[in-house]
Amino acid sequence: MDEQVLKVQKIKNGIVIDHIPCGMSLKVLKILGIQGDIGSTVTLAMHVKSSRGWKDIVKIEDRYLDDREIDKISLIAPSATVNFIENYKVVRKHRVEIPSVVKGIVKCMNPRCITNHKEPIQSEFYVISKTPITIKCKYCGREMNAEDIVENII
Ligand code: CTP
Ligand code: ZN
Repeated sequence: MDEQVLKVQKIKNGIVIDHIPCGMSLKVLKILGIQGDIGSTVTLAMHVKSSRGWKDIVKIEDRYLDDREIDKISLIAPSATVNFIENYKVVRKHRVEIPSVVKGIVKCMNPRCITNHKEPIQSEFYVISKTPITIKCKYCGREMNAEDIVENII
């Protein structure tokens, strides 16, 4: 193996979240609830050169991502690609996409919003800007940016 070139090892099984905008990989981990030891190997690379500029990468071994988690990632890393790895091969490559309506994955940060009351109303936001991300609560009109979203992921 060429140690001058090798930066982050390939993984055998799990997921590689690639093409994350620089600086957002820690937020991706937070969104996935990875804040301490999860019992599997996680590797993170920040500010790595790629063909399209600079990027962050997150690799999580023996982990799978569902559609809901992929939607969450899209909100803060819209350029990301999720690669599913099996036996060292990329078996599925998924370009994340910001949904036009964000349902049930972010809590409205307005404590008085009806979605934060006892009645079981699912949160719902319209995406009013993709870069930078801004979402607007369908019920109270509160706007939230990337930082707010990361702090309020359900
Ligand atoms: N990867 C990995 N372990 C594997 C296979 C792939 O960590 N066993 C990583 C690669 O290092 C890369 C990403 O998964 O960061 C996607 O792999 P691949 O599709 O082979 O790379 P590219 O063709 O360069 O991907 P893209 O076109 O999405 O940039
Ligand atoms: Zn609201």
